[in-house]
Amino acid sequence: MDSSIPAPRVAVVVVAAGSGTRLGAGLPKAFVALGGRTLLERSLGSVRGMAEPAQTIVVAPSERLEEARTIVAGALGSLAPSAVVAGGETRQRSVAAGLAALAPDVEVVLVHDAARALTPPSLFDAVVAAVRHAGHGIIPGLPVSDTIKRVSPDGEVHETVDRSALSAIQTPQGFPRDQLLAAYAAATSDETDDAGLVAAGGHPVSVVPGDAHAFKITTPWDLRRAEVLLNGGRAEPPTPRIGFGSDTHGFDPAAELWLAGLHWPGEDGLAGHSDGDAVAHAIVDALLSAAALGDIGTVFGTDDPRLADARGVVFLAEARRLVEEAGYRIGNVTAQIVGNRPKFSPRRAEAQEALAAVLGAPVSLSATTTDGLGFTGRGEGVAALATALLLPR
Ligand code: CTP
Ligand code: MG
Repeated sequence: MDSSIPAPRVAVVVVAAGSGTRLGAGLPKAFVALGGRTLLERSLGSVRGMAEPAQTIVVAPSERLEEARTIVAGALGSLAPSAVVAGGETRQRSVAAGLAALAPDVEVVLVHDAARALTPPSLFDAVVAAVRHAGHGIIPGLPVSDTIKRVSPDGEVHETVDRSALSAIQTPQGFPRDQLLAAYAAATSDETDDAGLVAAGGHPVSVVPGDAHAFKITTPWDLRRAEVLLNGGRAEPPTPRIGFGSDTHGFDPAAELWLAGLHWPGEDGLAGHSDGDAVAHAIVDALLSAAALGDIGTVFGTDDPRLADARGVVFLAEARRLVEEAGYRIGNVTAQIVGNRPKFSPRRAEAQEALAAVLGAPVSLSATTTDGLGFTGRGEGVAALATALLLPR
């Protein structure tokens, strides 16, 4: 990590060390696939979608630490710090193991079950905001819709419980760091959630509205429900999608030229917050628009210090990961460079190969001039246009 990147103030402990007995898949639940990706990978995808970058601590079964590290690297990249630690016999011990890896600057800690694999990033954001606002623990909960009765072990029904006073509690549960650490340090009981311990430690905890997608995958039926939800209730198979993007950068004689993923020694460079590779940026916008994921500015942030001077291929690799995460593979990509220089055709094949290697799909490039008209005709800069085709995976 670049040391100029501010240290995260938020951490998410993702507990994934359970055995998944009730699911009965023959392997630890967090490593079971749902629509082609493990529950852990999907949970990390939600963490990655948080508005504020978070330190991410994954608690995994001790015999699967390497596998967990690979999943973490694939899901989070290097945009935020992460750690993988071994879990314990109970969920509570697993959380405690995760808390030991908290970075010094973290102020708000979220604890999340990897088994709640479809939890939207917005719920994480809402919990962080509510913890900061309240200064105490916040847990998401949903009203209970079924009639609840107290029943004795022999099946005799005693009474109906007033469900207006009940809430079905989910994760992520969020706490001020000190309150959570104090509660774990003083723990004498074994609780099924973190709020139970924090409340036992004498701190208030409040409920905020949960999200139906944050349900816990516990049984085979839950896994099937998650699969149905992932298909978006689509009766039709997903269709190919096309995307378009463009980008323009002015020449900066003081900069090195990077264009279409290649370095062009001896040519004037392009101005920009990153390396100014207009071709790469146009392709990123084409990919993101095809998947309806927004654009390069909303996904990467135009003034994100982590991306200052970043090479175009860094954005391309991340855009590829995002569209794949959204359920697509790249069919093909085309781009056209509009400008007088550099003279492109001698390096066309090289550039196509370089971009295709990053995108895992064919890339065709062309170049044109504008008959001396406009800013490209006057040699003030370069424009690039791109299209991308995405296919369902
Ligand atoms: N968990 C954990 N360490 C444990 C037990 C549970 O990290 N010793 C995690 C699980 O991986 C899961 C979350 O806590 O993400 C919620 O637990 P649960 O749904 O009960 O998962 P499992 O314990 O794996 O399932 P089961 O109880 O059916 O064995
Ligand atoms: Mg369990």
